[in-house]
Amino acid sequence: MEHDEPSRPRDARASEAPDQGLPYATAFHAPVLCLAVLEALVTDRAGLYVDATLGGGGHSAALLDALALEGRVVGIDQDAEALAAAAARLAPEIEQDRFRALHGNFGDLERLLAAIDITEIDGLLLDLGISSHQIDEATRGFSHRAEARLDMRMDTRGGVTADEVVNRWSVADLRRALREFGEEPRAGRIAQAIVAARPVETTTHLADVVRSAVPTRGEAKALARVFQALRIVVNAELERLEQALAAGTNLLRPGGRMAVISYHSLEDRRVKRYFRYGNLEGEPVRDFYGNLLTPWRPLTRKPIVPDAAEVVANPRARSARLRIAERLPDSNDDFD
Ligand SMILES: C[S@@+](CC[C@H](N)C(=O)[O-])C[C@H]1O[C@@H](n2cnc3c(N)ncnc32)[C@H](O)[C@@H]1O
Repeated sequence: MEHDEPSRPRDARASEAPDQGLPYATAFHAPVLCLAVLEALVTDRAGLYVDATLGGGGHSAALLDALALEGRVVGIDQDAEALAAAAARLAPEIEQDRFRALHGNFGDLERLLAAIDITEIDGLLLDLGISSHQIDEATRGFSHRAEARLDMRMDTRGGVTADEVVNRWSVADLRRALREFGEEPRAGRIAQAIVAARPVETTTHLADVVRSAVPTRGEAKALARVFQALRIVVNAELERLEQALAAGTNLLRPGGRMAVISYHSLEDRRVKRYFRYGNLEGEPVRDFYGNLLTPWRPLTRKPIVPDAAEVVANPRARSARLRIAERLPDSNDDFD
């Protein structure tokens, strides 16, 4: 590697780990591909890094251990419970001014950082989706296994809930959402069953309705797809991802890196396109000589995936795909 190797994490918080096979895991969440993220991201041990999906603070804790004492991390999450857990875990680093937690949406990344006078960073991590805590905490409504109100908002301070989508949207809009964001082949039948069953009061009620609309052998997949689609709609996940990718271009210094872990193809496709072409349309833009004009150099042709041992220790890691890209200098920088 051309850059400073990060020191191997000391795993200073190993005592919090419920499973010794997973570095930096706590009961709140086990960070996925932890060592690969450190290797990908850390190009300057005294640098400033942003963990825009703080969750339980696992990746941030690992980063802080890998950095020199001058190295700093800003963690962002839109979920107040995640912020509280991470801030408690990283209290010593907050005290030392090495870590700071911000409540907000990574779609507003530049604004959130500008508010604390940060306009340039050395690395940006997005570990997309939801944490184990969000799935396990039944009241949040993310799981079809436990009865809860249909909420699914990561940021519970406002916005549309899953209840509003399920009980108010037209059959056509529901069908489109299930097809587009869940890639659900029986979207039409499921949308009709939902509308016919209104009011759909709870997660388990919704699960029964979905089951009633699909053959028994397809139930598990249909449930996963429908719940994924609703979560994506409620949290505007794909728009927010696109905003964060664009913010990465503006914030990272040349040579700095962005690492993104995605958990389904709708996310991964966007990340791959953005890293490859430098735009969200996935259109190659070339100069007069045919060279690709892009601010990014992708460092992963194929995504990095967890090995078998990690998946055994943490089955929720099984769909993770990590892509990394390096910010190139702007072409005019050569003439400065
Ligand atoms: C997979 S978890 C991250 C876990 C974390 N890497 C760790 O080691 O504990 C994803 C986190 O990102 C947060 N999140 C998802 N989308 C977000 C967004 N648009 N803005 C801010 N936080 C977001 C979720 O609330 C959740 O806590």
